[in-house]
Amino acid sequence: MSSYETLELVRSGPVLEVRLNRPEVRNAFNGTVVDELQLAFREADMDPAVRVVLLKGNGKSFSAGADLAWMQQQAALSPEDNQHGAERMARMFLSIARCRKPVVGRMHGHALGGGTGLTAAVDMAFCSEDCMFGLTEAKLGIVPAVISPFVMQKIGVGRARTLFLTAERFDGREAQRIGLVHRAVPEAELDAVVQKAIGELLSSGPLAVASAKELIRTVGGLTLEEAVPVTSQWIAQLRATPEAKEGMGAFLEKRKPNWMAGS
Ligand code: COA
Repeated sequence: MSSYETLELVRSGPVLEVRLNRPEVRNAFNGTVVDELQLAFREADMDPAVRVVLLKGNGKSFSAGADLAWMQQQAALSPEDNQHGAERMARMFLSIARCRKPVVGRMHGHALGGGTGLTAAVDMAFCSEDCMFGLTEAKLGIVPAVISPFVMQKIGVGRARTLFLTAERFDGREAQRIGLVHRAVPEAELDAVVQKAIGELLSSGPLAVASAKELIRTVGGLTLEEAVPVTSQWIAQLRATPEAKEGMGAFLEKRKPNWMAGS
């Protein structure tokens, strides 16, 4: 595994924990964090032994979003370098959303600006009820630009229109209500809820989980009519794979499938 300056990577069996590790600035992300996150998610993608990625933050807060000192430095660069740095940030979010392994988020304390963006980019997020979210950018004279596609996919255009413009902060309960997170629970229960979700992911077929991610991405852009040949071909191919044979066979033979061996 590569060595990281701003992240802590912890492997426990098939789970890779990616922990943001700049607690002194509430895990605000600068260029190093951006590059390291992209590298960590590429490593997770390539490593067949990793089946789930858990994204969390060390210290008091999950993430205070983009490092505002770094944003100011970027603004002072040449227009080309400024643009290049912004694109690197956009690609970091994309690498999380497009990771072929399921990505679970654990948010606590604050997840503001890009922290809310990271919450939107993961497959499923869990947070403490008192975790504070917000697309706070407009209060700083900027906009939640590179995170907007991820946030809008999760919460919809209507809610984005209010939250991007008011830049108001909201708590974990509200984040659950609007679909930004899957569940908000008291902080004392957060780790147990995250572990339960990871257990569910590990008991599903690894190829099936990756295929399900791809299915959602593909079908989201199709009309009902366009979907018929695509989805029928999808299940026809999937149900003929060795993994499907094992999964359906295990059910019919009343045993655990081989990917659950040892659990
Ligand atoms: N960028 C750079 N530095 C940041 C930061 C950010 N986004 N968020 C926090 N920090 C720094 C603070 O400047 C402070 O540095 P200092 O110790 O040198 O003074 C340190 O992190 C701790 O922050 P502080 O505000 O004292 O901690 P807190 O626990 O009281 O509050 C937050 C935490 C996250 C609520 C608060 O820092 C905050 O509102 N940050 C801005 C969040 C935001 O709007 N992000 C959107 C960015 S696009």
